[in-house]
Amino acid sequence: MSQIDWANLPFGYFKTDYNVRAYYKDGKWSDLEVRQDEMINLHMAATCLHYGQEAFEGLKAFRGVDGKIRMFRPDENAKRLVLSANGIMMQPVPTDLFIEACKKVVKLNEKYIPPYGVGASFYLRPLLIGSGAQVGVKPAKEYVFLVFGGPVGPYFKSGFKPVPMQIVKDYDRVAPLGTGLFKVGGNYAASLKASERAHDEGFSTVLFLDSKEHKYIDEAGPANFFAIKGNKYITPDSHSILRSITNMSLQQIAADMGMEVERRPIEEEELSTFDEIGACGTAAVISPISKIVDRSTGKEYVVSKDGEAGPVSTKLYKALRGIQEGEIEDKHGWNLIVE
Ligand code: PLP
Ligand code: COI
Repeated sequence: MSQIDWANLPFGYFKTDYNVRAYYKDGKWSDLEVRQDEMINLHMAATCLHYGQEAFEGLKAFRGVDGKIRMFRPDENAKRLVLSANGIMMQPVPTDLFIEACKKVVKLNEKYIPPYGVGASFYLRPLLIGSGAQVGVKPAKEYVFLVFGGPVGPYFKSGFKPVPMQIVKDYDRVAPLGTGLFKVGGNYAASLKASERAHDEGFSTVLFLDSKEHKYIDEAGPANFFAIKGNKYITPDSHSILRSITNMSLQQIAADMGMEVERRPIEEEELSTFDEIGACGTAAVISPISKIVDRSTGKEYVVSKDGEAGPVSTKLYKALRGIQEGEIEDKHGWNLIVE
């Protein structure tokens, strides 16, 4: 293995040595299979290809200050994959199988776990697909569950420097009673046009509004939204956003710091009243937001005037990373140590 430049890793695919897979067939899950190749042999009529029976997860493992490897809240990702699977009628993956697969990928690829303190982590990507053949619109009878992973750097190139977001009203990512709360590929396909255009226009990401009224903040393309106003941590309450595990954790950390946590609808106009705004997620961690521009009205909400992250976002970021890297007591039992 040639030397990895840990400090300058992008967020992207990184080939490692092993992935693991399990197969659902004839009403039961197989044992895990360890594989070295990166390909899947799929039936051409597999439902994932035609009818979008596909869900995925994203979670991270960290090398701590004590040299131990910690996975962050894998039980929550397992739960969410069950929710996603049920949402689009796929066979759910049992939690034990999910966690065993993630642990195995970490252990087998241990040499790719970034060292402590370089600002990188090991990103795990569990995937569940309908592999059985159907031509009528029906759920498959067979499924493949696989997990691969690799070392990654920050999702937004600037790292912890504030980035600009764009509000769009001419594209919706999900329907009001649709699949927004499931982590299914179709949601991301539906976000691509708006996201690529936003990038071309100089923004890091899109901020989607609720698709019924285009009035309330939903979430960013790859991350949840939160705002700080005085001593309050405020985040949208919406049926059409992903239940971000990072956001849940930040709400707890904020409460532990003595902040008030509000989950409620947030109107676009309220953006001008916030002290700090951030996008949060496994890949994004906390990405502070510098400004938000509404593409349809041209209205600009400036959040960070000096180009730096705000003090509360910085505190939250340090607390989260501190727990994940074993520097701060994990008092809620979020980390799973991989031995
Ligand atoms: N929202 C969307 C659309 C996402 O893709 C992600 C990434 O997983 C998140 C929010 C953040 O969720 P989590 O913190 O569980 O990674
Ligand atoms: C994650 O944060 O895990 C995500 O899935 C975001 C993006 C890479 C889709």
